[in-house]
Amino acid sequence: FFTDFATMFWEYRSYFLTGLQYTLWLAALGVLFGFILGLFVALIRMSPWGIIRFIGHAWVEFLRGTPMLVQLMIIHYGLSYMFDINFDPIESGAITLSINSSAYLAEIFRAGIQGVDRGQSEAARSLGMTQGQTMRFIIIPQAIKNVLPAIGNEFVVIVKESSIVSFIGVTEIMFQAGAVQGITYNGMMPFLIVAVMYFIVTFTLSRILGRFERRLQASDNR
Ligand code: ARG
Repeated sequence: FFTDFATMFWEYRSYFLTGLQYTLWLAALGVLFGFILGLFVALIRMSPWGIIRFIGHAWVEFLRGTPMLVQLMIIHYGLSYMFDINFDPIESGAITLSINSSAYLAEIFRAGIQGVDRGQSEAARSLGMTQGQTMRFIIIPQAIKNVLPAIGNEFVVIVKESSIVSFIGVTEIMFQAGAVQGITYNGMMPFLIVAVMYFIVTFTLSRILGRFERRLQASDNR
């Protein structure tokens, strides 16, 4: 069994490793753009204008309340059909992951921003900072630091969830497993191999995150 596992991995290593590259690349893009968009959405949700707040709220609710697979189909096939907006599979994949992740990250940021002690903004305001300056220089930096572990978790989630872009033919890990299954007629081994690959990535990431988290906490013990 173990030799089968190793033999298949070795024989089709170019498939699996290409897949791994796409998976990591997609997840990185998803979280990077999701981060920027998500922060923006979180701020929008605190806007003094009701309509703007509503848009932010609707964004979050819609994206969290529908499956990412459906969102992927809308972006990849729907936009092409209705508006002749054509994305490559990899583009649609990255866009979907970013947009989807932005909703989850927006909630993480909102919690982080609301979690910063009120005294911080009161102090900043009484030092003469405007509301915008207070947000930018006092609240957001502390909020981001506090939510870094949650952002790390989101990255782990996105590494796994990126597997759905195999549906539109992005040659990431999951797609490659299907390809190797098609070549070898082996319905188990390719999936076990990619399961182990995903696990190695997510396990390593969470170990790194755990260490990072402890390091961040150290500077809180003043
Ligand atoms: N698989 C679920 C879905 O399709 C969860 C997506 C989770 N996304 C996230 N960015 N944490 O909706």
